[in-house]
Amino acid sequence: MRGMDLHAKYPALSDLRARARARIPRFVWDYLDSGTGVEATKARNRERLDRVRLMPSILHGEFTPDISAPLFGQMHALPVGIAPVGMSGLIWPDAERHLARAATQAGIPYALSTVASQKPEDVGPHLNGQGWFQLYPPRDPEIRTGMLNRARAAGFGVLVLTVDVPVGSRRERQARSGLTQPPRLTPRLMAQVARCPTWALGMASMGMPRMRLIDDYAGETKGLPSNKHAGYLLRTSPDWDYLRWLRDAWEGPIVVKGVLNGDDAHALEGEGVDAIWVSNHAGRQFDAAPATIEALPEVRAATRLPVIMDGGIEGGLDVLRAIALGADFVMMGRGWHFALGALGAGGPAHLADILAADLVANMGQLGTKTLFDVRERLIPTG
Ligand SMILES: Cc1cc2nc3c(=O)[nH]c(=O)nc-3n(C[C@H](O)[C@H](O)[C@H](O)COP(=O)(O)O)c2cc1C
Repeated sequence: MRGMDLHAKYPALSDLRARARARIPRFVWDYLDSGTGVEATKARNRERLDRVRLMPSILHGEFTPDISAPLFGQMHALPVGIAPVGMSGLIWPDAERHLARAATQAGIPYALSTVASQKPEDVGPHLNGQGWFQLYPPRDPEIRTGMLNRARAAGFGVLVLTVDVPVGSRRERQARSGLTQPPRLTPRLMAQVARCPTWALGMASMGMPRMRLIDDYAGETKGLPSNKHAGYLLRTSPDWDYLRWLRDAWEGPIVVKGVLNGDDAHALEGEGVDAIWVSNHAGRQFDAAPATIEALPEVRAATRLPVIMDGGIEGGLDVLRAIALGADFVMMGRGWHFALGALGAGGPAHLADILAADLVANMGQLGTKTLFDVRERLIPTG
């Protein structure tokens, strides 16, 4: 389908989400879509975004808005990137490769997860220097160094340390759905797969997805059952000393992901990190967390570092809302996977198109020539 037809049929992310839901087996869908608890934080991310209002302007004449944004010395065509998602390859066959190519084509960054279903070496070559590597910190110092060296050698220039997974989360909806790690197909799950032939055929040709980077180290922890490897290898509770070690070990920019308050942001700046990523892990970890858009102004006020934000972003207008409240750059996780599920390999490019068109349309209403002018159009709440 050509670009215009796609815009007629799938004008918004909600259209991609609806189609993806029908094409992805239920247990996989629940992995992608669920939050934790009663999923209040997930809903809050969205509700609070809707509350942010911006003042349109009139009689500003014709102009073409500039929707590009700088970060870490690179200009990106859009102020939006692809957030790390574990086991993307379970959500859609060969997801990491499709996402990496789409990111390069769209001129945006892609963060590869430690627990992705592809190794950095297999994804890096598609990224043309736009790659970030997201680290769930391994316990073992040798494995830690090994992973960093491999990411660097594969062309990943930015390191993201995720700090909002200090312990596992319960993710009740996912548990009810029956997904295990590694995935094991019971008759109930097989019946769900049978209803999604495109997904099933793709998986049959790719093989059942695994955490391939982790697999490489599994042999180094003898005697553990295979489903315990990821948990054992990755010490999910790093401390400030761990961050200092990482700062010494990584020459490029370091981003700390999962920050929700100003004191933490300020302290992180003091440790020499390069950007703060405001995130609550899409409501998947802690169900009483603030919405990210709510946490953003305090973090912005506490640091001079670039601030990245994610959580519930659905379109260009949400991106403008985040920028208005202090973000320099925005990331999306689920959205790119809805696009893959709906349209396969071409889905992410269509989503990038939707985001660009929505940014341009809304900046036209606001009369803002550059993204950061949007901050002057924020209507104060209260
Ligand atoms: C299925 C799924 C898997 C995720 N896996 C990771 C991960 O491996 N590492 C990480 O730092 N964040 C992970 N996240 C969080 C995302 O990076 C991002 O913070 C979040 O998806 C943004 O919210 P959004 O999905 O509403 O755009 C995951 C999110 C989802 C939905």
